[in-house]
Amino acid sequence: MAAADILMVVQHPVVARDLTVLRDRDTPSSAFRPALNRIATILAYHALDHLPLREVPVETPITRTIGHAIDTGLIVVPILRAGLGMVDAITQFIPDVKIGHLGIYRDKTTHKPVDYYVNLPRGLETATVLLVDPMLATGGSACDAIHYLKNAGARHIRFITLIAAPEGVQAVHAAHPDVRIITAALDERLNEHAYIVPGLGDAGDRIFGTD
Ligand code: PRP
Ligand code: URA
Repeated sequence: MAAADILMVVQHPVVARDLTVLRDRDTPSSAFRPALNRIATILAYHALDHLPLREVPVETPITRTIGHAIDTGLIVVPILRAGLGMVDAITQFIPDVKIGHLGIYRDKTTHKPVDYYVNLPRGLETATVLLVDPMLATGGSACDAIHYLKNAGARHIRFITLIAAPEGVQAVHAAHPDVRIITAALDERLNEHAYIVPGLGDAGDRIFGTD
């Protein structure tokens, strides 16, 4: 894959405005969730720009013509918890997706991923799989999730994330060079607690109103 195909940073005025809402420490969950929703829709739009199509006949009120149908199954897999905050946006955009779940949290001390739940639909082998999680920090959770999806048979995976750290992008590319990352921002770095700088803090806490 060429470099531009590996990492896509989506630049759009609505994304820039909503990213600022999300970064603001004073934004409450009630405003955080819809802003995340709007950005997730735009990221999904870009993540799906290479979907295969097949021609289908369609009859308009005027005449017969040729239209298109998406020629692949689509499966969305949020990494729990925070990935859940991006699912509604994608299902509204493409209603006929199947949804899988991967429960992974990052250990507070080691920052290594810990798996705690998995539930994946059938059809991973042939589907386009959209893995979603707002934060790509060390990349541990994303690499773990991609590894799991590949072991379960997934072959075509795209990772949609709101904010990526360079360390996480590098980790995903090193382990899974075939997985395209679609993000709204490539931030500066990680801090000593492996939080993204400038970032937005803990995405799960900000979505769900926990500390
Ligand atoms: C956050 C985030 C990612 C992970 C990113 O989840 O949603 O899953 O951290 O960090 P990494 O790239 O260093 O692995 P968290 O562990 O806070 O769990 P939560 O969503 O349940 O709050
Ligand atoms: N997880 C988050 O929610 N935020 C970060 O900055 C890093 C990991």
